[in-house]
This record gives sequence, C-alpha cells and structure tokens, in this order.
Amino acid sequence: MPRRLLVTSALPYANGAIHLGHLVEYVQTDIWVRFQKMRGEEVHYVCADDTHGTPIMLRAEKEGISPEALIARVYGEHTRDFAGFHVGFDNYHTTHSPETQALANDIYLKLAGAGLIEVRSVEQFYDPVKAMFLPDRYIKGECPKCGARDQYGDSCEVCGSAYTPTDLVAPYSVVSGAKPVRKSSDHYFFRLSDARCQAFLKRWTRSGTLQPEAANKLDEWFHQGLADWDISRDAPYFGFEIPNAPGKYFYVWLDAPIGYLGAFRNLAARRGLDFDAWVRAPAAGDDGIEMVHFIGKDILYFHALFWPAELEMAGYRTPAKVFAHGFLTVNGEKMSKSRGTFITAASYLGLGLNPEWLRYYYAAKLGPTMEDIDLNLEDFVARVNADLVGKFVNIASRTAGFITKRFGGRLAAPRHPLLGQIQAAAPRIASLYDEREFGKAVRETMRLADLANQYVDQEKPWDLARQAGDGQRLHEVCTTAINVFRLLTLYLKPVLPKLAADVEAFLRVPPLAWSDAGALLPEGHAIGAYRHLMTRIDPKSIDALVAANRESLQPAPVTAPHSQQRHAEAKVHAEEKHAKPIAEAPAAAAPTISIDEFGKVELRVARIAKAEHVEGADKLIRLTLDLGGETRTVFAGIKSAYDPAALEGRLTVMVANLAPRKMKFGVSEGMVLAASGDGPGIFLIAPDAGAQPGMRVK
Ligand code: MSP
Ligand code: ZN
Repeated sequence: MPRRLLVTSALPYANGAIHLGHLVEYVQTDIWVRFQKMRGEEVHYVCADDTHGTPIMLRAEKEGISPEALIARVYGEHTRDFAGFHVGFDNYHTTHSPETQALANDIYLKLAGAGLIEVRSVEQFYDPVKAMFLPDRYIKGECPKCGARDQYGDSCEVCGSAYTPTDLVAPYSVVSGAKPVRKSSDHYFFRLSDARCQAFLKRWTRSGTLQPEAANKLDEWFHQGLADWDISRDAPYFGFEIPNAPGKYFYVWLDAPIGYLGAFRNLAARRGLDFDAWVRAPAAGDDGIEMVHFIGKDILYFHALFWPAELEMAGYRTPAKVFAHGFLTVNGEKMSKSRGTFITAASYLGLGLNPEWLRYYYAAKLGPTMEDIDLNLEDFVARVNADLVGKFVNIASRTAGFITKRFGGRLAAPRHPLLGQIQAAAPRIASLYDEREFGKAVRETMRLADLANQYVDQEKPWDLARQAGDGQRLHEVCTTAINVFRLLTLYLKPVLPKLAADVEAFLRVPPLAWSDAGALLPEGHAIGAYRHLMTRIDPKSIDALVAANRESLQPAPVTAPHSQQRHAEAKVHAEEKHAKPIAEAPAAAAPTISIDEFGKVELRVARIAKAEHVEGADKLIRLTLDLGGETRTVFAGIKSAYDPAALEGRLTVMVANLAPRKMKFGVSEGMVLAASGDGPGIFLIAPDAGAQPGMRVK
C-alpha cells in the first residue's frame, strides 16, 4: 500500500516578491515531495497565495487598484517564480477562493456549535480619519521611556524597552497620521483555553507530530497558559465576512491554513479524489492518509496550536507532521537590502542563473532541524562547481563521447563490482531523503561520485582509446561510468529535476523512479549524443546578483542628486509578524531643510500614458508621463515590482524640474516617486482620487 500524502508549504503573502529566504521552504518541500513521488507514493502537494488582511488592503489602495487586482498580479509573479525554480506544486491556489470560504465557514460554524466561539468587547486604537481599527504595528509615537520619536507600539528601537501601544506618547496612525482614539467593538474569539483544546493539544504535541525542539517550544507555551484567540477583524477588511456577523471578518490567520484545504479541494475536484475521506477525521484508527505541513519556525505558533485545535474540534483530520525549518542567512547575516543580500527569486532567474545551483546548495545545507541555514556566496560558487560540475557531470562528460564515437552509442554488458556498490546505497539514501536529511543524502551521493571518478582516473579511457585492438576494455569502462552516472542522477533527481530530465533524454530512458536503482542499463542499450549538461557558476554573476539587489534601495532625501535613484523609506508588511508600518519616518534622518529648499522641488501629478520594457535593462521601465498636456519620458527602476501593462493609466507623482539625464537607453526627463524599505517591494506613490495630471504637489 503506498502512503497517501497531502503535503503543503506555507502560503506566501500576496503583497511581496518571492525571495531566496522563501525558497528554502519551497525547495525543501519540493525535494521531499519529488522523492516520495519517485518512490511511488500518492502525493498531492498544494499551496496558495495568502491574500487577505490589512496590509494587502492598504497596499492595493496605495496603488490605486482593487485588492483583487493586486492579488491577481502577485499570483502571476509568484507562480512564475516558483515554476522558475522547478517547485512542482500539484495545485497553486489562492485563499481568496470559494473553496476556502466554504471551508472557513464550515469550520467556524462547527466550532461555534461546540461552544468554542465567544464574543467579547475589545478596546482598540482606531484611526478616526481612515475610519478603521489599527493593528498595533500601524501605530507609532514617542517612546514612553526615552522619548525617541516614531517608535512602534510594542517596543522602542532606540532604548529597547517594551510596552503596549497605549503607553506611547503622542501616538499617531501610520496610515493617515491622525491621532488614534480608543474605541470598543465586539470581537470573536476561539476558546483555546477550553479544557477540551488543552487536553487535545497536550496529547497531540507528544504524538510524534512535531520535531523535538518544536515540542519543547510548545511545552513552554503551555506553561505560559494558552489564551483565547481573537479571530475577527472589523470592516474595512479584505477577507471573508463571518457568517451571521455582519461587518466582522475572519482574521487572515484564521483562513490562511484553511487555504491548504481549499487548494486541495480545488485539486480533488479535478483529480476525482474523495475530498472528505482525505480531510475529515478518520472514523477508525490509521487509514494511511497523512497531512504534512512544511513551515518556517516563525509560524510554528499558528500551525502547532490554533490549527490542530481548530481541526480537531471541528471534526477534521489533524496534521500528521509539522516540519519546521530555520531561517536563511546570507554570508552569515540576516538578508539585507543595503548589502544586496535580500535577493529576489526574479532577479536570480532574470540574470540567467541556474535555479538548480541553488536547489543543490540548499539541499546540501538542509537537515531535519529548525536550525538556520546560511547561504555563503563564495562557498555556493565553490561547492556547486566542485560537486555538480567537477564530480557529477564530469563522469558523463569524460566517457560518453567514446560510446558514441567508437561503439555506435551502444553500451556493453554492465559488470563492474562498483555498480553493485552504488546500487546498494539506494535504501540508505532513500531513508535520508525521507528523514529530510538532505545534506547527508547529497554528501553520500558525492562520496559515490568520488569513487566513480577515482575509477575513471585509474582506467584512463582517453589512454585506452589510443591503444590498438577492439577496444573492449574501453567499452567496459565507459559502460560502467555511464551506469554509475545514471544511478547518481537517480539519487539526485529530487534535487535536480531538470538536469535529471536532460539526462533521461540523453540516456534515452523513461523517467527514473526510485525502484530503477535495482536495475542497470542492459547490454546493447543505445544512448544519445552527450551535450553539455551544466555550466560552472561564474563568480562575476554572483557579484552582479548582489549589485542588482542592492541598487534599487539606496534611501535618500528627495533633494539628492538625480544621478541616484532615490526612494522615501516605506514598506508594507504583514500584520502581527514583526510587521513594519506603511509610512516610516526616514530611519537615518536627513539634515533639516527649510520650506524654501523644499519648494525648489517641483512635484507634479502625472498620468502614466505608456509603460514599456527597456530592451537590455533588468530594472528599468520606460514611462511616458502625461503632465496635463506636456509629456515626459522617464526611466524608472521599478521593473522588479511592476508589470508595465499594469501601470498604464495610473496616476503617480513625479519630480518635474529635475535636470534631464542622459542614460544608456535614452534621456530621462524627471523621476517618479516610490517607496521601499528593508523588505521586498517598491511602491509607486499615487495621489487620492480626484487629482488631475499636472497638478502641483506641495
Ligand atoms: N502567509 C504566512 C503563512 C501562512 S501559512 C497558512 C507567511 N507568509 S510569508 O510569505 O511571510 O512566509 C512564507 C513562508 O516562507 C513561511 O513559512 C516563512 O517561514 C518562510 N520564510 C520567509 N522568509 C524566510 C527566510 N528568510 N528564511 C527561511 N524561510 C523564510 O508567513
Ligand atoms: Zn526608548
């Protein structure tokens, strides 16, 4: 009986670009899934965009588009990036779907029916101008301890003291700048403190579902006592309205994990699977179905407390495994925009770097724990070049040509004892993959590649080829090498699916499954002509990658020389996940200027009449701006964030009296204003409705 696996990766937020940090997770999951499929297990790998919540609502508003239009655009970007890295989802859906809504309603109503939903009045900060409640991270003010300005509602970045938003001196809303007021409203709570939830979670936590370090973390949380969970937000909110509660919406983290099930329901309908059998609590014992979640350690709380409790109490199947991984660091440090190490998936692919280089490097670094993993860029180049090109591909590139030239492409009988030795490693490598010991699986495979290379070095086929005779020895040596190459390809296939497909085409074999390790290529099997399978990483391309990710980010005042692309510091982030606010005062403050100095900058509303790709430029979009009669051409470094087609017709703000500048691609006659921060994304500034092209901005 094959295993039946429903596998998920966490749903990325629909308001930012996929970056190399995200990819740790999607690559890890994809390797595991590909391995399970190679073994013949029944696997359904689903994911989706996480589309709801305040940050997405506000970002769409800023861009002057509907949230639906924003999430549709980001959906296109995310699916393109994942496909580029060969992440093979069986379904990539969206939480903004009828399936997810129906399931959220069902789970909620079952919890309510079980007496686990409670309504309580909550007093919260409210933005009277924007007419909305403010999540804590959208409130700033002066630190009550040291008086530092522009500090968040939870802690001070200057003196480090922690407090609550109510303690802030002169608080303001980062959405409108208004002074927030206190206002009460009814909120819906999931009663996690209920004895039934507690008893279930204590059991579930120790049932082998969690990694030991995650189970310990949970014990800590139990120890602190489980509080009820606020699952509602008031309008305006981009999300699903709660049944029988007009104006109340499910908090994004309520429907996000339900999005796993929504994505699966959508797939099940297409594949003719019995959805209920997969997701409802099994009637009796173990039915072989396992729901497996891969997540980052930062979202363990949601996946190991609320989610299983919700599922259990609503009569759904609970996760069989939650696998948490650590965070990516680059060169030993947190990813950073100023260092150029906050690298987007799109920039990596855009520069023509091979996605399988990164997949291999991550695999080599990944293990089953929650430890952080480091992408050391020098080591990345050295390791990929040494292992993949120098060891693995080398086996075929040194021997395949002789088979083609001397033996009509046909192999001899496979006989050498080395082959048995390499075949015998299959079960060991399989358990390593299954246990998410990818680093060990890759190291073991490279050890076998070393043996093969030693064998080729000893036999010296290039010398054998010069000897007189029928070349039988040469034939045997090359046959051994090609068979080894096939086995090692099989072992690396979960990590390198594209390369493996190229090898399968070259060897003229059907897609390799794990059980194929039991057999060898038979005598007389004809292989194709060898074509180069993988190039080395040029260290210069890594420098270019870092430069490309650094460039767009230099924050500076508006009055800075136009030779530098400048942005005001700003950023939209996810609510309640160390989110940063939308409009952040410049962190490294610029020197004070007078109103007259500011007045020298002529800011005007502009309509984007045309937006075009610039041939040969990675980051630039050519904008034709309408200033109410007058038109200007401006080259803007916003390609990483915007599809030109989506820009046409939008209003933005430009610096209209900037001296024209000759660039490689033409003359730029001004500059548009956009915001960016430490996280991903560039956000074009847009005026409120009613503004007309040509209007002065003061
Ligand atoms: N939307 C939520 C998840 C909802 S799941 C029901 C979210 N989104 S996220 O875009 O911020 O992150 C998606 C996944 O990527 C998370 O598992 C997160 O841990 C992971 N990573 C994001 N940045 C990462 C690193 N720098 N390193 C490793 N993983 C990272 O959280
Ligand atoms: Zn302080």
